[in-house]
Amino acid sequence: DNNKFQAIISHCKEYGFIFQSSEIYDGLSAVYDYGQNGSELKRNIRDYWWKSMTQFHENIVGIDAAIFMHPTTWKASGHVDNFSDPMIDNKDSKKRYRVDHLIEAHAEKLALEGKKEEEAALLQSMDNLLAKDDFDGLKRLIEDNKIKCSVSGTAHWTDIRQFNLMFSTQLGSVAEEASEIYLRPETAQGIFVNFLNVQKTGRMKIPFGIAQVGKAFRNEIVARQFVFRMREFEQMEMQFFVRPGTQKEWYEYWKAERMKWHLSLGISPDKYRFHDHVKLAFYADAACDIEYDFPIGFKEVEGIHSRTDHDLSRHQEYSKKKMQYFDTEINQNYIPYVIETSIGLDRTVLMVLSEAYAEEDLSTEDKKDSRVVLKFPAKLAPIKLAVLPLTKKDGLPEIAREIMDGCKKSFRCFYEEKDTIGKRYRRMDALGTPFCVTVDHQTKEDNTVTIRYRDSMQQERIPIAEISRIINEAIDQ
Ligand code: GAP
Repeated sequence: DNNKFQAIISHCKEYGFIFQSSEIYDGLSAVYDYGQNGSELKRNIRDYWWKSMTQFHENIVGIDAAIFMHPTTWKASGHVDNFSDPMIDNKDSKKRYRVDHLIEAHAEKLALEGKKEEEAALLQSMDNLLAKDDFDGLKRLIEDNKIKCSVSGTAHWTDIRQFNLMFSTQLGSVAEEASEIYLRPETAQGIFVNFLNVQKTGRMKIPFGIAQVGKAFRNEIVARQFVFRMREFEQMEMQFFVRPGTQKEWYEYWKAERMKWHLSLGISPDKYRFHDHVKLAFYADAACDIEYDFPIGFKEVEGIHSRTDHDLSRHQEYSKKKMQYFDTEINQNYIPYVIETSIGLDRTVLMVLSEAYAEEDLSTEDKKDSRVVLKFPAKLAPIKLAVLPLTKKDGLPEIAREIMDGCKKSFRCFYEEKDTIGKRYRRMDALGTPFCVTVDHQTKEDNTVTIRYRDSMQQERIPIAEISRIINEAIDQ
């Protein structure tokens, strides 16, 4: 539902969640900034993921590696030679397209026209051809299906070629001395090159994991799906090191474990599905995606990959440093196998927003009314509690301030005294604030306030002393 997608994008801008980067200069394509509410939402998701990894699992620790890495890293990992996508240029418009994106867009059109079987057949042919790197076949597929692009009627296409997605820059000040380095296209390699540092200094015993959150950069070609596909984005990755031969079990374990995490966001199972990869990435022996039913259809949010010993072996080969682990239980040295879970933070933000966003009709017989509400789980909401004095006088703001002071050390609160109480509630709904408390004249007499619940819009009177417990309980869920 493209209307819902557009509505979410507008809402994000209007309520300080996400802005286009450098908007005053007409923006930078596929780059976005998080505003005052978006950055809190994103941070809450990041913190929850981090806690789920490094606190709920005793055998997972976190690191924070640099974005810049020695250039040989990317030769060893295979990214210099293999991290590329097949692209095709439209000779008329001079625009460049990723072949899979071009075909997928056409498949979506077929689906909208109700041609479900043709859609499935097209995607199946594409998968088969991509798996064989059959570029001539892909070009024929594009031509036979008369796939066009937005600008022209019949498109004239160039041959299909591979383009590397890594951004490069120069390290060092003098041009001749400078060496070309890359902005990391994934955070995973920072974990692999530190594998032994962490294992030795942390006395980690296999199986164990290393988690990391950080920026990654890819020169995506078709990137016009808001924060779904960006050129600068954030990944939350975890590499789990296991004994060779046990990778299948651990792969299944992490598939189940990650799905549990997704469901713990309060999202129902029918909004998710696994998609097993037909074409495996150059480093994997099994891989799948967790897909979420976005307003633009089912799409990948997270990848789970069984990466074998590919990365560590290649780093051993290129660095000439041993990447082996001595397993005291079986008295053997080996290069561990790795199961990776890799989730895009920005995509998760979009998922949580898509799930939370609702337009509700609240009309009664005599009055038309509606609201936009973000039904975030309390633990992810940017603001947990709004404290609202009913009027600006009679000592009510002072009591409200006291409540703020009592709560703001444990969770994020928001104080507001402008506008009617109804308008203030609606604004808090639009920001996804799960609780509002209103201080009124009765508060002065009996130390109670009205608490209003965002989703049900129910209100009840509770003692001031209860506020903090109610909210902390909701956040802990
Ligand atoms: N280390 C493995 C790896 O990077 P990936 O499937 O290429 O695997 C993992 O990326 C996740 O990163 C994806 O599932 C997606 O959520 C996120 N991601 C990848 N490219 C992205 C982009 N251009 N914009 C936003 N998120 C992206």
